[in-house]
Amino acid sequence: MPFLVVKHLLKKFDGIVAVNDLSFEVKKNEIAAIIGPNGAGKTTTFNLISGVLKADGGQIIFKNEPIFGLKPHAIAARGMVRTFQNVNLFDNMTVLDNVKVGSHKKGHTEIFGAAFRTKTFKQEEAAISETSMAVLQLVGLEKRAPEMAGNLPFGQQRLLEIARALAGDPEILLLDEPAAGLNAHETAELATLILKLQQQGITIVIIEHDMELVMEISENIIVIDQGNKIAEGGPLAIQTNKKVIGAYLGEEC
Ligand SMILES: Nc1ncnc2c1ncn2[C@@H]1O[C@H](COP(=O)(O)OP(=O)(O)OP(=O)(O)O)[C@@H](O)[C@H]1O
Ligand SMILES: [Mg+2]
Repeated sequence: MPFLVVKHLLKKFDGIVAVNDLSFEVKKNEIAAIIGPNGAGKTTTFNLISGVLKADGGQIIFKNEPIFGLKPHAIAARGMVRTFQNVNLFDNMTVLDNVKVGSHKKGHTEIFGAAFRTKTFKQEEAAISETSMAVLQLVGLEKRAPEMAGNLPFGQQRLLEIARALAGDPEILLLDEPAAGLNAHETAELATLILKLQQQGITIVIIEHDMELVMEISENIIVIDQGNKIAEGGPLAIQTNKKVIGAYLGEEC
């Protein structure tokens, strides 16, 4: 039973077809990758799945229910959380507060409770702080909790983005180029983290240009070029696929 099903997805921007009849499935608890040259339509695909953009056609089914047309917060509440290609933190907030922002379990007491500091509100606040610290521990940033996010080195800011996504308690995590700008050591640590998240039962879809990382952790790789899926398979099959090699070399095969 597939966990996420994308069927015949279509998105046009001013006549340019950014995503063309794209179909793929992700199994529960798998690590899947979406790769392809710059401008292939990878981020647009995430934007469509996560509700940031509305598709011009197709279906998106998550946990057996259609999510097409739902708003991002509604999709996140169902267990699908994504990170963005560019680091997008609140630089002047602490590391811990950045993670707390990612928690959607704010409950109904939010506005009333925040104004009057009700007991329930304080309990919810304490619970959010606790889970946020646990998430920081998971990504190895717990000692940085009180620092300003803007003061972290770039590699740790990327980890903080993942921590914030994890605070949303995802069942499926969509990571858009999490290794961009990381050095080899940081990328290796990222691989370990992603595998750890999988062990905790999270399904992962990763967009990534770092082929070593993709080949090391992915079980299924979807290759897109100019909006079209040109190949899909395991790391070995993809590395030797002529269409894939052609797309990366900018050649016709
Ligand atoms: N909001 C938008 N408005 C107009 N065109 C867009 C928009 N978003 C993306 N595009 C175009 O759609 C195509 C796919 O872009 P997308 O960002 O999805 O590519 P990508 O595969 O993520 O590339 P990269 O590897 O560089 O991140 C590109 O031609 C891009 O210019
Ligand atoms: Mg992109």
